[in-house]
Amino acid sequence: MSGPDVPAMMAIETQANPSPWRAHDFDAFLADPGQAGEAAAGGIRRAWVYADPEVRGFLCAVAVAGEAELQAIAVERSRWGRGAGTALMESLLAWTRGQGISDIHLEVREGNQRALDFYARFGFTVVGKRPRYYQDNGEAAILMKRNC
Ligand SMILES: CC(C)(COP(=O)(O)OP(=O)(O)OC[C@H]1O[C@@H](n2cnc3c(N)ncnc32)[C@H](O)[C@@H]1OP(=O)(O)O)[C@@H](O)C(=O)NCCC(=O)NCCS
Repeated sequence: MSGPDVPAMMAIETQANPSPWRAHDFDAFLADPGQAGEAAAGGIRRAWVYADPEVRGFLCAVAVAGEAELQAIAVERSRWGRGAGTALMESLLAWTRGQGISDIHLEVREGNQRALDFYARFGFTVVGKRPRYYQDNGEAAILMKRNC
């Protein structure tokens, strides 16, 4: 992923997420890691796009102190169910293996059954719940984790 991918990623994100990342969120994610708080703590940010060659999906993750957090994943709605999400997740898993990361964490809306099923298929299990976490509709966040 790089700066020129941002408009396509924003279009996908806006379609897929009720509280989408905005341009400044993507720009901050892609900014020089030397300016990021995570980097100061020894963290690394990585992002991948799935392209055919048009950008159809993306995944953003941060690794800090031997643990990773999946911060965003989305695939263009018309391309769901064709393996793009799987390819993105496999890129993340290959990277975490190479980094010696022990666990991957994520948050997902309680009502997002497709994403919950998708994550479970990759071995993520529910480890907690934050009631009324999402401000736009008061939905709970389900916390999931996968041991690497
Ligand atoms: C969750 C999400 C990223 C999954 O992406 P995806 O590209 O649809 O995922 P995949 O196609 O790899 O896999 C999903 C399903 O398609 C099936 N599939 C994979 N490759 C396939 C293929 N070539 N042909 C047919 N089906 C296929 C998988 O078996 C899977 O089905 P299952 O979950 O019933 O087992 C996508 O639905 C999305 O963008 N959702 C909105 C954003 C979102 O909710 N993000 C998570 C926020 S926490």
